[in-house]
Amino acid sequence: MNNAPTSIDVVLSPPEIDLLPQRDLAGSVAVVYDVLRATSTMITALAHGAAGIWPVRTIEEAWALKEMRSTALLGGERHGEKIEGFDLGNSPLEYRENIRGREIISTTTNGTIALRAVEHARTVLAGALLNTGAIAAHLAAQSVCEIVIVCAGTFREAALEDMLAAGMLVSLLPGLRRSDSAEAVLALYRQEERDIPGGLRRAKNGRALLAKGRAEEVEWCAQASLYPLLARMDGEGSAT
Ligand code: MLT
Repeated sequence: MNNAPTSIDVVLSPPEIDLLPQRDLAGSVAVVYDVLRATSTMITALAHGAAGIWPVRTIEEAWALKEMRSTALLGGERHGEKIEGFDLGNSPLEYRENIRGREIISTTTNGTIALRAVEHARTVLAGALLNTGAIAAHLAAQSVCEIVIVCAGTFREAALEDMLAAGMLVSLLPGLRRSDSAEAVLALYRQEERDIPGGLRRAKNGRALLAKGRAEEVEWCAQASLYPLLARMDGEGSAT
């Protein structure tokens, strides 16, 4: 008997994410999207052989974890730029070489915060456009009561790119009871699905990256279902 998921909800912005630690997610699968760029970078790193990703909230936490995992690489950003003393920034293009077999400790403005906000969920998956097909296939076969999609946002605002990815996932999971926010992202996705890269270029963080001459990163993150890969965060807090 396949008791597939029954309902799907979407958390749209950082102020809602602040409330997630108090939400009962024991029976839920949480899928966290930070398309530009944190989770796209994590999926790219794992697809290129990284051994695992440790998402942490603060720079201090990253350095402290580095003390315990000395061979791990430090990656992440503040204001979109590499953090002083770190090995890598947060561009997915940096995570396609020289990381095979390496663990990565990552801290970013929104993405790693969102991942930690749902660490108490039954299952936590890092989602990107790059692996949405794989996530949908996995979830369709799951016996779980609720799917909660978390859009990490940009600073304190909702991010268009995350809502588009959430809408794509909702569209690939028909037949579930959708919350209003799930209906809203589905409608948005239906409107934009013929030009997802265009949607990312219009998004606040997309425009910021373009202004810095990082168009290639935006195009990279806009690719849909490039990798048949799942990134699951385990009880210890590392995504593999
Ligand atoms: C974030 O986590 O806030 C984003 O991924 C930031 C970025 O990389 O631009």
